[in-house]
Amino acid sequence: MQFKRIGVLTSGGDAPGMNAAIRSVVRTAIGRGVEEVYGIYSGYKGLIEEDMELLNIRSVSNIISHGGTMLYSARCPEFKTEEGMQRAVDVCKKRGIDGIIAIGGDGTFRGATDLTRRGIPCIGIPATIDNDISSTDYTIGFDTAMNTVVELVDKLRDTCESHARCNVVEVMGKYAGDIALHTGIATGAISIAVRELPYDEDQAIAKIIKARENKKRNFIVIVAEGKENFAEAYAKRIEEKTGIETRFSRLAHVQRGGNPTVRDRVTASLMGKAAVMELLDGKSNLVICERKGVITSMDINKALKIDRMFKDLMTPEEYAELEAEGSLVDMRRHCEERAAAKLNLYRISQEICK
Ligand code: F6P
Repeated sequence: MQFKRIGVLTSGGDAPGMNAAIRSVVRTAIGRGVEEVYGIYSGYKGLIEEDMELLNIRSVSNIISHGGTMLYSARCPEFKTEEGMQRAVDVCKKRGIDGIIAIGGDGTFRGATDLTRRGIPCIGIPATIDNDISSTDYTIGFDTAMNTVVELVDKLRDTCESHARCNVVEVMGKYAGDIALHTGIATGAISIAVRELPYDEDQAIAKIIKARENKKRNFIVIVAEGKENFAEAYAKRIEEKTGIETRFSRLAHVQRGGNPTVRDRVTASLMGKAAVMELLDGKSNLVICERKGVITSMDINKALKIDRMFKDLMTPEEYAELEAEGSLVDMRRHCEERAAAKLNLYRISQEICK
């Protein structure tokens, strides 16, 4: 198929590096003979409302270093309805959009798969600071967010050291404690708590008491937000049980902004190019992934299933279906490798953060 016109959009929570991905998509597409690239504003909402503009090589200049997304982002409940979906397809037909590159998280990919099913080929690019898309080892924005956390926690540690205090820091990560695990190691946190791994509170408190007896003055505890309603109350319990003055800090959305790091700019550029190449090659319903350092791709439906499996959301019927189609073993291995990598990080943190 000849792709004359394609669209690019960003959807879901923004992530630093989305602009670098947009730039790469636009420049690769135009360089490879696509006549026009529409930048669709505010994700699927803009598609339904026909809020879009033609982008060119120059209109994506000077965005690679900017956080946020020049195409804006929004959640769009209407897109999940049959009428909303039909409207999106009609807009694509009216504007002559032959395919779409959708940059975002799993909600974005669900939208992409729905559009593909209705005849608009889509390719997804994973971008979310949480690194919680299980089909890929890396999502755009993760590195920048971690560096933001590290910069802020280093500052908190300075003041903890001066006052001999503890600070419980809640970082983002609704379904995945990846930000917490990595930044906990990088900031020398005495303890890290994430939703998906067991946490022994008594053991952690005993460790803090022992470290204080050992003349330690600063105590950083990192908690992932996925461990709901935990961090703030935990700070109070630490103070009660250790006698160490303890503060609570929620870093929240500051983690989503800022200039993307080299890692995010480069990965976004590589993924943007890969997405366009797959589309022009006649492929659709794929998500671009990074696996063991290599940029590759996976069928979106498979990626969404792996995600459900990893997050323990699959029903017995879904498992039976996968077994019948012969893909269960492969998907299980994928999830086990991912879980093992996480557990390894956790164990290392427990061993060296004292
Ligand atoms: O983008 C991921 C994320 O930052 C999560 O870590 C967090 O739970 C959520 O988005 C917050 O979303 P919102 O922007 O709607 O507050």
